[in-house]
Amino acid sequence: MRRSEYLDLAERLLDHVENNTTDSADSTYTVPVADYLDEDRWNTEMEAIFKRKPLMLAYTDELREPGMYKAMEAVGVPVLMTRSKDGKVRAFLNVCSHRGAQIAADGLGKASRFVCPYHGWTYNDKGDLMAVADKQKFGAVNTGTKGLTELPCAERAGLIFVVLTPGEPMDIDDYLGGMLPEIESLGIEDWHIYKQVELSGANWKIVYDGYLEGYHFSTLHKNTIFTFSMNNVMAYDSYGPHQRIGFPHHDLADLREKPQDEWETGEGMSVIRTIFPHVSMAGGAGGGLISQLIPGPTPAQSRTIQTYIYAKLPETDDEQAMMDASMEMTVAAVRDEDYATGFGIQRGLATGANKEFTFGKNELGLHKFHSWVDYYTEGEPEGRRPNL
Ligand code: FES
Ligand SMILES: [Fe+2]
Repeated sequence: MRRSEYLDLAERLLDHVENNTTDSADSTYTVPVADYLDEDRWNTEMEAIFKRKPLMLAYTDELREPGMYKAMEAVGVPVLMTRSKDGKVRAFLNVCSHRGAQIAADGLGKASRFVCPYHGWTYNDKGDLMAVADKQKFGAVNTGTKGLTELPCAERAGLIFVVLTPGEPMDIDDYLGGMLPEIESLGIEDWHIYKQVELSGANWKIVYDGYLEGYHFSTLHKNTIFTFSMNNVMAYDSYGPHQRIGFPHHDLADLREKPQDEWETGEGMSVIRTIFPHVSMAGGAGGGLISQLIPGPTPAQSRTIQTYIYAKLPETDDEQAMMDASMEMTVAAVRDEDYATGFGIQRGLATGANKEFTFGKNELGLHKFHSWVDYYTEGEPEGRRPNL
């Protein structure tokens, strides 16, 4: 975070703490519970949002050098990402043009040629079909038109974004808007992945809601996050559908004891940045936790890939032990507190006990998130772009 922005956030948070206030909406906001349950609605969300908008599917660190690749499934779509000698990252449907087999097994690897495990057709890392096995017996194939199907792909600020629909227009700079300089200022392109953990979760919106407010810290996270972070106070900013939330730590007020030029950038607060529709980033210049939420395979399910990624990996046993302890605390808070609660909500929704949910003025991030989901699922109607 830039110094001036940190100072601005710190002043705003100090002001809230001293006055017992928080950034908030003008009024509460209501959503029908059916929005979380309805299967048609979920399918529309997948088609209008997850298949059309840029998803953050990989880190620069995972494809650091030419020849590296990553294969994964996202909302039912098998994706292959490669970095070729020209330095460019490309994405493809991980589907053979012969009879549709998955070409590269899910995971990370190094290869400049991909051989289909079914009949051995071979592609290069730019997706071109290079060889048809036993071509003479196979017969005529126009190799020029039988390459892998390319997906729109862009690399920005250490993150790799892919649109899951071939040919869909993608303007990543326009899409990220004001969030781009925010994430660029973190320097993620130089960070290194320490560890990754995959968690199962409930409906993707139940899960994402939990990343967008600090109203639950003193209750759900009494023995974890609340040990350092204050409850129900935030400095809130949004950039289109993307959000940045500053949460004050209990010791934030100590900043008042010293002159501003002695405040260390990042001191006294946690900052969460979200990239719509599925990324949450917790941390600052030294690194932190980035979560990629992937909905499915059913409306009531999702999975989250948590990546612990740092500017500097631990060098000594002591540093490693400290990093592991902090990571384990976070995994436990998210899995045993947030995600366990999410499964309970999912069960609760199905009972019909609630017809609608009311988000408080203090749950402003949820107002914003649900407004954007509505806007996209309704086909981005003219003049209805959310402006909260
Ligand atoms: S399906 Fe890939 S070579 Fe046949
Ligand atoms: Fe939480």
